[in-house]
Amino acid sequence: MSLPPFANEPVLELRRAPVRAGLADALREHDARGPLEVPVWVGADKRSGDALVSTDPGTPDRVVATSAAATEADVDAALAGATGAARAWGNRPAGERADVLRRAAAALRERRLELAALEVRECAKPWPEADADVCEAIDFLEYYARGALELAEGAELLQVPGERNTMAWRPRGVCAVISPWNFPVAIPCGMAAAALGTGNTVVLKPAEQAPGCAFALVRALREAGVPPDALALLPGEGEVGAKLVRDPRVHTIAFTGSSAVGLEIVRAAAETPDGQPHLKRVIAEMGGKNCVIVDADADLDEVVPALVKSAFLYAGQKCSAASRVLCHAAIHDGLVERLAGAVSVLEVGQAEFLDVDVPPVIEREAAERVARYTEQAEGTGRIAARARDVPAEGWFATPAVATELPAGSPVLEEEIFGPLLAVERVRDVEEACDRVDASPFGLTGGLFARNPDTVDRVVERTPVGNLYVNRAVTGAMVARQPFGGNRRSGTGTKAGGPAYLLQFVEPQVVCENTMRHGLVV
Ligand SMILES: NC(=O)c1ccc[n+]([C@@H]2O[C@H](COP(=O)([O-])OP(=O)(O)OC[C@H]3O[C@@H](n4cnc5c(N)ncnc54)[C@H](O)[C@@H]3O)[C@@H](O)[C@H]2O)c1
Repeated sequence: MSLPPFANEPVLELRRAPVRAGLADALREHDARGPLEVPVWVGADKRSGDALVSTDPGTPDRVVATSAAATEADVDAALAGATGAARAWGNRPAGERADVLRRAAAALRERRLELAALEVRECAKPWPEADADVCEAIDFLEYYARGALELAEGAELLQVPGERNTMAWRPRGVCAVISPWNFPVAIPCGMAAAALGTGNTVVLKPAEQAPGCAFALVRALREAGVPPDALALLPGEGEVGAKLVRDPRVHTIAFTGSSAVGLEIVRAAAETPDGQPHLKRVIAEMGGKNCVIVDADADLDEVVPALVKSAFLYAGQKCSAASRVLCHAAIHDGLVERLAGAVSVLEVGQAEFLDVDVPPVIEREAAERVARYTEQAEGTGRIAARARDVPAEGWFATPAVATELPAGSPVLEEEIFGPLLAVERVRDVEEACDRVDASPFGLTGGLFARNPDTVDRVVERTPVGNLYVNRAVTGAMVARQPFGGNRRSGTGTKAGGPAYLLQFVEPQVVCENTMRHGLVV
């Protein structure tokens, strides 16, 4: 079976008036439908409830979805179903599973406006990012469908007379997928598609902030042909994820979220309780503290808009978002002044409006966290600029630029996950590299420099998983920029890249002596 070469799903052309009108219609239809009912969905059983209430971060009175929360019995039933279904799903020809993924991609494509509208409401994702998220989900399905087909062909080994050597990749078994809210369709979709495409069964525990988006995804996958027992949906808080992680029936844990939770998962998964004959594998994509180095020869006309985009789009809530700028002393003051000008005029408002630059953050706790760090920055350093006219209703955080912070400040060392950007003065690029190297994180990084030798030096020294040179540090595309962090930012796998699927399979080599003596009768 061969498929046409992979190509990224094109994003919407939002400059066209009819496209924008289509978005407005989709949002109206979304609102008219009222809150989504999200079930715990195990096999054919659906159980509704309202243990989780998902609201619009910009208008917290607006309920987007009410969701049941999985109980211990649900976790047990989902794992029993997934264990029972593993052999049959794993034995299906790879081509059939690839077809299922591609049908799911087609379903998402068909419903892309509806899905993007759901993201706008449930996660306050602005239209361009919501649309890009749906496109990325489609890309994951299409890309991993092709990757799984390739894997199914096995590897070429050296053959000598008298023996036949084969190498194949087998599914590992049950995969617990635990996802965050900030890419509410693409990230659970990517992890689930990789697991399913390679023949594993999946139990999905989505973020408690985005059960509606996860339900839409699971529905698309089930309608596309994933058998009911091969994919369960277990909405709930973190403890549902923790139960999955500890259960001996789970073989693989695909997690994306904060470093604190990721580390806890890595520790818990290392246990080998009675009744667990295998070692669990953890695929973890975690948080970061992403630094952008700006050398003295950088073009500030490029640097300033790229930094604003990197730090403030989606209110700084992308794992790849810029958080620290390490700027050469020669241009530090000029950069701060220009950044301050740009940040002070950022439009802060509801995600549904296309002229808004910075939407609200996901929840009250996030807004309070950003305010705390900003206060700390003001107390120990200086706030060079703040955005004005921040709405009072809704979970808004004020975009700001902080400078003159002391070494070791938590504002410089901890992931804030909000619209606060710190700028530091460095003597030269070497000192900037030293500071990057001192961080336990290694997700994304950026460099603005015109000298090719400087670029080479930074590429050689950087510990980050994804380095962007002379451009914004967000917006990785499937197959173009496989994405994932090093150090405490991740286990080093790259989502949307050629090696990702290998995490979900086990290699098996068979060596057969082909010299037959005598005749079997
Ligand atoms: N590296 C990447 O590719 C990437 C991508 C997106 C987000 N992130 C990171 O995710 C974080 C934001 O997402 P979040 O707030 O949803 O993260 P989070 O760690 O709070 O939650 C992620 C998921 O883990 C679950 N969880 C919480 N406690 C758990 C436990 N003890 N055991 C098992 N599961 C548990 C949550 O319910 C949720 O489903 C940021 O740190 C961001 O950098 C990383």
